[in-house]
Amino acid sequence: MNKTSNQLPKKSLGFFPTPLTELKRFSDHLKGPRIFIKRDDLTGLAFGGNKTRKLEFLIADALSLECDTLITAGAAQSNHCRQTAAAGFIEAIKELQIQVDDLDTKISHIVFPTSSGGTHSGMMIGNSIFAQNKFKLIGIGIDKGEAGDLPLDEHVLNLANSTCEKLNLDVKYTLKDVMIRNEYLGDGYGIVGDLERRAIRLLAETEGILVDPVYTGRALGGMINMIEKKELSLDDIVLFWHTGGSPALFLYSEEITQKCTGESL
Ligand SMILES: Cc1ncc(COP(=O)(O)O)c(C=O)c1O
Repeated sequence: MNKTSNQLPKKSLGFFPTPLTELKRFSDHLKGPRIFIKRDDLTGLAFGGNKTRKLEFLIADALSLECDTLITAGAAQSNHCRQTAAAGFIEAIKELQIQVDDLDTKISHIVFPTSSGGTHSGMMIGNSIFAQNKFKLIGIGIDKGEAGDLPLDEHVLNLANSTCEKLNLDVKYTLKDVMIRNEYLGDGYGIVGDLERRAIRLLAETEGILVDPVYTGRALGGMINMIEKKELSLDDIVLFWHTGGSPALFLYSEEITQKCTGESL
């Protein structure tokens, strides 16, 4: 391992490190394990979110090429762009490890939404390079179990391995290193169901923190379900990575305020 994402140019755009705090009331309500939250919704650029981390690398890259206009397009990004995006989350794990060192506890699991794979593959590499005790990474699938022609886990695997090659890191992953839970897709991308509604309300009511209906609400709903099923047990210490997305709350206000199935009020 002779090169890390440190050696890629980076332009400072957000407020880092983002806060790491404990969700005591939320955890008490679930009678679950200790739960922490990493607040990437507070990165400060516009409404915040995980994209600030990748933009710091993409903008620096664009500036080094003397570009004066940047056009980005959802999933249809080049491999180079996605590898650069993953670099943002390699650094994020380094940032987390420094914060965890100051806690009186360890973190066993990290739960987060996964969609185009940049966040997930970056976390995998950061976990290999910077984590003292490896975090168990659980990506909650958001839109579908595939990216292009490949199942999402294969896509994340390829992206992680090609990013390692680009950074000359002596690390090679296999499919068993990629954990994606695809059973929380509900009726599809952006369709809000009881899973998301309950998660949004519970975190808002217990902690005053808002997650979004499309990404973090679904991922948090998945995490709640895993706690209720005791897949995440009292012995675990779980970190929920809030990747942002808050502006969607305004667009989905009607869906969010609807009653959940079986609710009397
Ligand atoms: C709020 C939010 N969270 C999570 C993700 C998923 O991140 P990735 O595309 O790196 O898998 C996205 C992607 O658009 C997002 O907007």
